[in-house]
Amino acid sequence: MILRERAVVPSRGTVGVTGDETGEVIVEARELYKAYGTKVAVGGVSFGVRRGEIFGILGPNGAGKSTTLEILEGLRDPDRGVASVEGLEVWKNKRAVHARIGVQLQSTALFEELSIADNLRLLAALYRHPLPVGRLLADVNLADRADAPLGTLSGGQQQRLSLAAALVNDPVVVFLDEPTTGLDPQARRSLWALVRDLRGRGKTIVLTTHYMEEAEVLCDRVAIMAGGQIVALDTPAGLIARYGGGLTIRCDFSGPVEKYDLAALPGIGAVAGSDGVEGHYTFRVADLERGLIALLHSAERQGTPLTDLHVRQPGLEDVFLNLTGHTLRD
Ligand SMILES: Nc1ncnc2c1ncn2[C@@H]1O[C@H](COP(=O)(O)OP(=O)(O)OP(=O)(O)O)[C@@H](O)[C@H]1O
Ligand SMILES: [Mg+2]
Repeated sequence: MILRERAVVPSRGTVGVTGDETGEVIVEARELYKAYGTKVAVGGVSFGVRRGEIFGILGPNGAGKSTTLEILEGLRDPDRGVASVEGLEVWKNKRAVHARIGVQLQSTALFEELSIADNLRLLAALYRHPLPVGRLLADVNLADRADAPLGTLSGGQQQRLSLAAALVNDPVVVFLDEPTTGLDPQARRSLWALVRDLRGRGKTIVLTTHYMEEAEVLCDRVAIMAGGQIVALDTPAGLIARYGGGLTIRCDFSGPVEKYDLAALPGIGAVAGSDGVEGHYTFRVADLERGLIALLHSAERQGTPLTDLHVRQPGLEDVFLNLTGHTLRD
């Protein structure tokens, strides 16, 4: 069988479109656009994923994450734009691309009544050079459950099995659509460890999530997606430094204090919020040490003791709020 492999421009090793791209770009989305009727699911999305990174697409329900992934996987054709994997335009080279990628869909269809090993054997039969089932099961820590019927697995075990299913063809790029949704924190962490192992073995991972923590601790770079657009793309630390809004101090005083007097203290910045209770405020911090000392002195001078004090580092939650005006859960 002759496989048509047409390289697209830019091809391997070139610079992607969004974000600070250094290193080889292995997956690229260029101006992807997809509408369902009048609903624009993906409205001009561009990014490049580097070889060997864990790249996350973070966004709320309906942001367009799955549609973007499905276009990159060759499961949907974009109305406009180009998706490529290892320099191959996906839609025009589906067979060649499918040999290089592993896909875990948001819900994986496997056979309930078959054992987990048999489920993997069935999938392996679809490929010319599958990995041995025993190795796949060992890689996702399921070797001891090989003969268990699928229906008896816990949620976390099922997700690990569907990860194994995505690895059957020993892919170069692994796409995971919300791999930890619905899992408890322990199962989530064990899946993160497996994803890091994959990166350690040189795989490139593209995943979607709506968990801030997952994006922050697991992903090397994160594209924040909302309303079919990528609104920011960087490392978690880069996003937080640029859009997080800086350190805040939340302080609760035992009685009324003039918040504008507090905001004028050295080291303290603007009032960032108030929970509506008299004497409870959140301030931005320009200089933590000076700010804390000034606050404590001020409380002492005014005879209004502090009853609570928190210093908070911003996270991706703050980034999302600052970029979109609402929280991810809204
Ligand atoms: N087959 C379809 N037909 C019509 N509309 C669709 C279809 N698939 C997705 N949509 C719409 O496109 C938008 C983006 O959907 P998509 O599934 O890509 O979002 P998502 O970010 O993956 O959301 P979730 O977090 O819920 O999985 C949504 O408004 C969705 O309702
Ligand atoms: Mg989805």
